[in-house]
Amino acid sequence: MTVLATHDLRVHFGGVRALDGVTLALGLGGSVHAIIGPNGAGKTSFVNAVTGVYRATSGTIDLDGRNVSGLSAHELARIGVTRTFQNLQIFWTMTALENVVCGFHLVNEAGFWRGLLRTPRLVRRSRAIEQEALQILSSVGLGKRASDMAGSLSYGELKRLEIARAIASKPRLLFLDEPVAGCTATEKKLLGRLIRELAEATHAAIVIIEHDMKLVMSISDRVTVLVGGCVLADGLPELVRNDASVIEAYLGAAKVRQERSYASAG
Ligand SMILES: Nc1ncnc2c1ncn2[C@@H]1O[C@H](COP(=O)(O)OP(=O)(O)OP(=O)(O)O)[C@@H](O)[C@H]1O
Ligand SMILES: [Mg+2]
Repeated sequence: MTVLATHDLRVHFGGVRALDGVTLALGLGGSVHAIIGPNGAGKTSFVNAVTGVYRATSGTIDLDGRNVSGLSAHELARIGVTRTFQNLQIFWTMTALENVVCGFHLVNEAGFWRGLLRTPRLVRRSRAIEQEALQILSSVGLGKRASDMAGSLSYGELKRLEIARAIASKPRLLFLDEPVAGCTATEKKLLGRLIRELAEATHAAIVIIEHDMKLVMSISDRVTVLVGGCVLADGLPELVRNDASVIEAYLGAAKVRQERSYASAG
């Protein structure tokens, strides 16, 4: 069962229609769903709207059949909707472990005063959180980097750290906005495998926004194509890849771009 449904979702900025009527059901536990499309198609705006960062101009967002339109990002995180950002959002002066611990606090706020009192119960709870955070770090291959400052991690490691922090909030629905952008081919492969494994291990529904077609086609159960704020195609990866309108509007252009970049590199 998919958990999230949008109906005629619109996000307008003056004359710019970032989303122009998106009706989509997504969020099948344990699956990977990719949202693709050219630059400016509205992919990030869609994620921003359904994770409470943007307020939709009109339309509805339902989670398990309940209208959650207008809830804040924090409220949505508490009911299992989490995301990472297209640009890294790391606490640079904290250790890798502390960054992941922050993911727990996104949903478990111990009161400020109780925090100051440091009751034995709270101390025990903090230790348990640290243990769990360490396990999550290990699951993304960063166990040995736990006490290193985030600032000393490589770019690929930081991308994994962001995913680890998002996993710590125990999402049912996790949006990853361009999780492999800027990574080397080896890191991309590693991250792709990791995303697939995490969906299966945590039973979370993972939605990735991604331009790397090879990765998208190899790890996704379903692909949605957004163009100009509207859904152009939605379905199994092989069907979307061979859809004439998708090739014309996006994949054809993406291929030409890729060939150009090979030509200029060679
Ligand atoms: N906060 C904002 N204010 C004004 N315009 C915005 C805002 N956010 C997005 N837009 C506009 O909405 C459109 C969709 O942008 P969005 O970032 O959602 O695209 P995208 O598909 O994620 O693109 P990319 O692949 O480049 O990340 C663009 O024209 C963008 O300039
Ligand atoms: Mg974007």
